[in-house]
Amino acid sequence: MTEHTSGTAPAGVELRGRELAAAIRAETAERVSAGRRSGRPRPRLAVVVATADEATLWYVRSIAKAAEGVGIACDLVDLGPAARPQEIRATLERLGADPDVHGVMLQTPLPEGASAQELAAAIDPAKDVDGANPLSLGRLAAGLAAFAPATAAAVLALLDRHGVELRGARAVVVGRSTVVGKPLAHLLLDRHCTVTVCHSRTRDLAAVTSTAEVLVAAVGRAGLIGAEHVAPGAVVIDVGTNPTPDGGLTGDVDFDAVIGRAAALTPVPGGVGPVTTAILLRHTAQAAGLT
Ligand SMILES: NC(=O)c1ccc[n+]([C@@H]2O[C@H](COP(=O)([O-])OP(=O)(O)OC[C@H]3O[C@@H](n4cnc5c(N)ncnc54)[C@H](OP(=O)(O)O)[C@@H]3O)[C@@H](O)[C@H]2O)c1
Repeated sequence: MTEHTSGTAPAGVELRGRELAAAIRAETAERVSAGRRSGRPRPRLAVVVATADEATLWYVRSIAKAAEGVGIACDLVDLGPAARPQEIRATLERLGADPDVHGVMLQTPLPEGASAQELAAAIDPAKDVDGANPLSLGRLAAGLAAFAPATAAAVLALLDRHGVELRGARAVVVGRSTVVGKPLAHLLLDRHCTVTVCHSRTRDLAAVTSTAEVLVAAVGRAGLIGAEHVAPGAVVIDVGTNPTPDGGLTGDVDFDAVIGRAAALTPVPGGVGPVTTAILLRHTAQAAGLT
């Protein structure tokens, strides 16, 4: 953690994700090698991609590299940007039936006409390590065991790592996607937060977000959350990843405006992102029976 002071404003703590990600990877590597010592097969993750988007391909290669680092095999199943929905569905079903594959992930974006949500229903829930199958979200909402989307689980992991008290806390999640906002709202509810979910039709966003003790931004709009959106002393988690003109990334939160007001804030990059990848690997080890 790094402390920031801005003039006479109170210090805000930077909740960095890289250390937590390294700890999750180390623990996962240990589980994998203990499993191998006792004769278990090497966990295997299959990532299905159907895009030519360079940033996405870079991201999936980074998952493969991280997997290799913890002893998990990772297959990039590249169907190309012209893949038809039937082909993607058939691939997901084939991977579901393959006993050597333990985790299956469908990477977005997909070709036009292919719905990620419809296709994710073809992922075997037992292998759904990124919680994309609507069944996984339904089970999560019902309080049943399921893999949560890795990003939503990463937000919880960061809050836990930094000892943020969730029981009874007022939590506001900005964003209601099935990938981040909705599953995260359920995870926070399960941890006894009082949860409000905001979206593009929310009236007076700042009036709602400034009631939060724990504020999560998962929107995809650079700098949407400014100082006026944040209560003094709130813990703020920035899930947003927005490309900058210089080829970098920036979050949904105006970091410089908020760090002196919040008790704690995640940076972008280096906050939620690295933890998300580490959680994906932990889920794959769990799907391979290594608990
Ligand atoms: N770090 C990671 O590992 C990770 C992983 C996944 C996603 N992300 C990032 O997280 C962000 C969100 O991703 P997503 O997939 O959830 O995006 P999404 O599907 O586009 O959802 C965005 C949500 O933000 C809401 N929204 C849009 N404009 C708003 C506004 N002005 N005020 C309040 N709410 C607004 C939308 O409301 P409506 O529902 O009303 O349209 C929607 O619910 C993106 O930047 C994405 O790149 C990061």
